[in-house]
Amino acid sequence: MKQKEGIDFYIDSMKNKKISVFDTTLRDGEQTPGVSLTFEQKLDIAYQLDKLGVDIMEAGFPISSEGDKESVKSISNAGLDTVVCGLSRVLKKDIDACFESDVGLVHTFVPTSDVQRIHTIRKSREEVIELAVDAVEYIKEHGLKCMFSAMDATRTEPSYLVEVFKAVQEAGCDIINVPDTVGVMSPSGMYRITKDIAAEITIPIDVHCHNDFGLAVANSLMAVEAGASQVQVTINGIGERAGNADLSQTVMGLTAIYGAKSNIRTEYLVETSKLVENYSGIRLPPNTPVVGQNAFSHESGIHSQGVLEKSDTFEPGIMTPEMVGHKRRIVLGKHTGKHAVKQSLDSAGIKTSDPQLEEIVCRIKDIANRGKQITDVDLYAIASAVLGKASSEEELIKLKEVSVMTGNRTTPTAVVKAMIEGREVVAANTGVGPVDAALKAVRDILGEQNHFKLQEFRIDAITGGADALADVYIGLENEKGRIVTARSANPDIVMASVEALVNAMNLLYKK
Ligand code: KIV
Ligand code: ZN
Repeated sequence: MKQKEGIDFYIDSMKNKKISVFDTTLRDGEQTPGVSLTFEQKLDIAYQLDKLGVDIMEAGFPISSEGDKESVKSISNAGLDTVVCGLSRVLKKDIDACFESDVGLVHTFVPTSDVQRIHTIRKSREEVIELAVDAVEYIKEHGLKCMFSAMDATRTEPSYLVEVFKAVQEAGCDIINVPDTVGVMSPSGMYRITKDIAAEITIPIDVHCHNDFGLAVANSLMAVEAGASQVQVTINGIGERAGNADLSQTVMGLTAIYGAKSNIRTEYLVETSKLVENYSGIRLPPNTPVVGQNAFSHESGIHSQGVLEKSDTFEPGIMTPEMVGHKRRIVLGKHTGKHAVKQSLDSAGIKTSDPQLEEIVCRIKDIANRGKQITDVDLYAIASAVLGKASSEEELIKLKEVSVMTGNRTTPTAVVKAMIEGREVVAANTGVGPVDAALKAVRDILGEQNHFKLQEFRIDAITGGADALADVYIGLENEKGRIVTARSANPDIVMASVEALVNAMNLLYKK
């Protein structure tokens, strides 16, 4: 058993409890404002959900459109292991559309709260029970499995809610669902309502929690703790308004924290999330739990060093990146320490001395402080710029200041200040652009000694975007034909060019 400082992670009543996962990405998920999946995309998602191991997938609402009916039917006949479910109101025509879509389970629903009952379907409480019972009986007469949802259950008068559930259970219903349709339950409220229902009902209880207050996952976990055995979830938590309980968070919470069991092959969670992210166009914030880009990323020196030593130090341990198909990343940024940079360089086979490593770290922090993210390619460019430099004692030129002026009414002009053998030298020049002006000014600080040819000059933008790191590569040749090359990487293109030229001149005129 996993332990944390002597406290059991697992809750005894939940340990090894088998949870069934009902995915409604293709139905409630598709009701996300702005999301509309094509037939092919729905089929791809269905195959992926099957691969992920969901027990039941709600493939659509067949009566809602011919397109929905066609895609539900195709998914039903795709030879999947997952049970395919269709949604229906408590109306024969809806249920018939589910039958015609060849589903294995019909999910029928009717509003039970006063507010929805009075203002949407305008039926009395007794009429609602009659409709629900008739629907369940009709489904069962056709030999199909049936799940019944009391829509807006959590705002329904509790004794009436139990009465409805008892009536459908009597009619032969296989599963009842408790939807928190407008996401208003607190975790303790969800626990209580589920516990009360479980005391009266013998068939399996399923919960469907919406995320209006960000509590959908917490409420689902509490419902399971109180006796529910099935959770309705969606990939990336998409769904009506603020969405539904997220599958990956719910499943990892239940299995990793509570010790419950499910059929989900968790190693496909990230892959599935990415597919739905692409198809739905709903982008995940990087700090999304479990599957988000930062879920296993570490930047601060203390965290990175700890994780490199032993991952459990700053990760849950009971959930590893491998378990969910993720990757651990050490992100280089302004909080990065030497340890993490060294590890990244070592893994790329780049060896540095201590002063070189310090300079690389210093440059990374400097660039990160300007709000730029450092990629591996950025790191390698910075490292090769530092490694290709003359050591500090060998440097003839120590750059102090660079300023450039440019614009549509100004001739680009640069002023460069440097120390040469303890003397401060200032030079200024103009050019066709700021880089040209700055390079000429740098040449001028050597005065008469300036006997070299610029043999090669290349600028690459390492990553995309206006803040990309400019990687400048320079080759110089002296009058004896000796060639040296140097580079520098800096988000400021003028500075990258000047630094690369100074690096190359220092190699050529090494003391
Ligand atoms: O939110 C809800 O109540 C629903 C039902 C159809 C279960 O989506
Ligand atoms: Zn819903």
